[in-house]
Amino acid sequence: MGIAYVSVQWNRQKKFYDAVLIGGVATYLAVFGVLTKVLFPLVTDEIMLMRAFGTAAFLLLHIILCIGPLCRLNPKFLPLLYNRRHAGVTMFTLGLVHAALVVLTYHAGGDTNPILSVFKGSPLNGSVSGVPFQPFGFFALAILFLMAATSHDFWLANLSAPVWKSLHMLVYIAYSLLVLHVTFGALQGEGSPVYVVATALGLVTVLGLHITAGTRERGVDSECSRRREEADPQDHQTIPPPHVGCLDQFIDACAIADIPENRARIVCLSGERVAIFKYEGKISAVSNVCQHQNGPLGEGKIVFGCITCPWHGYQYQPDTGASPPPFVEKVPTFNVRVKNGRVYVHPRPNPAGTRTEPAIISAASPSVPFVPSVLSVS
Ligand code: HEM
Ligand code: FES
Repeated sequence: MGIAYVSVQWNRQKKFYDAVLIGGVATYLAVFGVLTKVLFPLVTDEIMLMRAFGTAAFLLLHIILCIGPLCRLNPKFLPLLYNRRHAGVTMFTLGLVHAALVVLTYHAGGDTNPILSVFKGSPLNGSVSGVPFQPFGFFALAILFLMAATSHDFWLANLSAPVWKSLHMLVYIAYSLLVLHVTFGALQGEGSPVYVVATALGLVTVLGLHITAGTRERGVDSECSRRREEADPQDHQTIPPPHVGCLDQFIDACAIADIPENRARIVCLSGERVAIFKYEGKISAVSNVCQHQNGPLGEGKIVFGCITCPWHGYQYQPDTGASPPPFVEKVPTFNVRVKNGRVYVHPRPNPAGTRTEPAIISAASPSVPFVPSVLSVS
């Protein structure tokens, strides 16, 4: 999406991403197969394959879940995010092959319908035999199917971004079901604690990264709130950025010099993140939240005159917050002023797509005496 970006095109980067993904999965399956044959020669081919595909899917799901928080902690991971949906569809396919092998091997030989048989009980015997672990896998697979089937931008556009996003948040339910599936499955079928320990390590990694990234973001937001509470609206000059004051007035957000050319500074105003962009001698501010998948617009840059989201390249005009035609996405804009080398932003967002006059940097001559510390809305 965007002037220079068409989401359905297969560019070099996408091909490289997919080649690494497929190559990685194929290598994993081959290594798993060889090691199983060498270390456990009595394991049949069917069981070896179902384990290889099941663990490959579960491992890939961990990687997918870790990419988001890793990108929040370090933008160097952003390239992993670009085609994360391809990884999601691959993961679903691996899980489906695993489930098909299980059904063919354990459930297709009796009188009961093979799918119903999955719910009837475990064919495996062991110490924790009471817990029916296979239905957990079944419901997880159903969620992964829903996500894979709606992963294309066609569904994003037709379902609307919030519905699509909520649907894809179900991945955390699928993950929880799979943790139960693998833990109880391994406890029933395996004498060795390897699967249980590996699952616990994976859970700690996924939770740890999410908590670390969430804590860091909350830290930024609460620092904003603290400064807002402490701010004296009559004395904004003395408060370091980002800082805020009265809701009905412009707020001293940052110094013009703090914003790199064609990039943004993100500030938190009345609980909302605002991306303030500097470009071609002008300043404009828009909501930091991309309409595609809530990517951080303020971490992107201006490309061909448009704010370009760092996650998948959606673009927005900085003065209107609207995507260039024929695209229809829009984000809220904010009124801005510049004075004495500082940027003032009105904290009330304009409706998405509303044009606002960019502030001209040259008009903010440092020689002009600083009159009001809080500018009123014009
Ligand atoms: C209808 C859906 C599913 C069924 C009926 C099912 C059934 C099973 C069974 C019977 C086992 C024990 C296999 C054995 O060791 O003999 C197992 C293990 C496992 N499953 Fe599933 N499963 C399903 C879906 C999934 C999905 C979607 C994933 C991952 C995305 C998954 C990941 C695993 C893993 C990692 C193991 C442990 C390794 C193994 O023993 O194969 N399963 N599953
Ligand atoms: S382009 Fe996907 S989140 Fe912005």
